[in-house]
Amino acid sequence: MQNFDFYSPTYFAFGKDTENRAGELVKRFGGSKVLIHYGGGSVVRSGLLDRVKASLEKEGLAFVELGGVKPNPRSGLVYEGIDLCKKENVDFILAVGGGSTIDSSKAIAAGTVYDGDFWDFYQGKRIEKALPVGTILTIAAAGSEGSPDSVITKEDGMFKRGASGDAIRPKFSILNPALTQTLPPYQTACGITDIMAHLYERYLTNTKEVEVTDRLIEGLLLTMIHEGPRVISDPFNYEARANIMWAGMVAHNNTCGVGRSQDWLSHMIEHELSALYDCAHGAGLAVTMPAVHTFEMPHNVMRFAQAAVRIWGCQMDFEHPEITAKAGIDAFRRFLISIGMPEDLESLGADSDDIPKLVNSLLYGDGGSGKISGFVTLDEDSCTKIYKMMV
Ligand code: NZQ
Ligand code: ZN
Repeated sequence: MQNFDFYSPTYFAFGKDTENRAGELVKRFGGSKVLIHYGGGSVVRSGLLDRVKASLEKEGLAFVELGGVKPNPRSGLVYEGIDLCKKENVDFILAVGGGSTIDSSKAIAAGTVYDGDFWDFYQGKRIEKALPVGTILTIAAAGSEGSPDSVITKEDGMFKRGASGDAIRPKFSILNPALTQTLPPYQTACGITDIMAHLYERYLTNTKEVEVTDRLIEGLLLTMIHEGPRVISDPFNYEARANIMWAGMVAHNNTCGVGRSQDWLSHMIEHELSALYDCAHGAGLAVTMPAVHTFEMPHNVMRFAQAAVRIWGCQMDFEHPEITAKAGIDAFRRFLISIGMPEDLESLGADSDDIPKLVNSLLYGDGGSGKISGFVTLDEDSCTKIYKMMV
């Protein structure tokens, strides 16, 4: 195991009706003038926004609102949010929605107290300072409710890039599984896929002797395999929603990733797809992961064979472990299709003629070095091969 620091100070309020504690928690974490940030309207239609406003009013907190965050959130609204926060002297940002709304909130939080262009953070500058952010999560997926990360798409060039820093870890996150019951099945499945991706990105490690985190990841993946289909066939199953919601947080606040190298190649390769085609991140991952894993498998056959046996219940073939490894990748692919995820570029709405464009943006766009590294290192040739495997 490698040395590590682990700092994950988010306060979680989990369970039914917890959104009514928004005002109390904003106050506890020092807010007095709040920006309520939200997406395309699901929180308006469900009545959640009204309940949140009532909770802030009850505590005597002033607020302004900014809606309109799109999935795969854009830089334009971030600039608008920064201007609004400066003009209104906002001192706390409350994200009400999914990963896109939370990420946009984090970007505004960092940009408001920074003199330069907030995009600097998405080109590698670490976020050291930000306004405090709280979240009320409405979809179990991205894990942004407990992560120090934010992913934004710059409209000029459509570059989708991430920024990080403990300063943007939410001060509190309110997780009420009942709020996810209004999700369309496709979005629920995209969320399940993203949570499983966050676990796989950590499972694929070059660090030896990491039994604790291996076993945590395996347990969470087994939970997703059990609860995912339950919630797809029974969207109002509160208990299944609750298990998935907490799994989504634990999958990505790095509890499962400490002390080990991690992969993240599937995410980097997927981000080009959601940037170019505006597809859901989870759907893009469903197409990307089987291809990336198949490409990576020869690098460490036994790791994929271990996943196949421990997670997917495959029989170990000691003479030909690569057969076991492949059976695990196939089982994962079949699972994703069974919950309604696309299986190739075409069903994602992507065009195979765009592969050179995708590779170019991935490796050279916005200051890229021509290579990306994770479980393995990929160059132009290997990235092209991987995208072609998705056709
Ligand atoms: O915008 P509204 O109207 O709210 O609709 C949203 C959106 O259309 C809808 N939705 C959310 N909760 C709902 C609901 N509809 C009905 N009922 C509800 N309860 O679902 C759609 C997707 O929402 P979005 O916020 O985009 O989903 P998600 O949480 O999957 O976030 C995706 C974004 O997070 C990034 C992804 O790249 C993508 O941009 N990621 C962020 C990470 C992080 N910050 O740590 C890590 C992830 O790997 C990921 O890259
Ligand atoms: Zn993800």
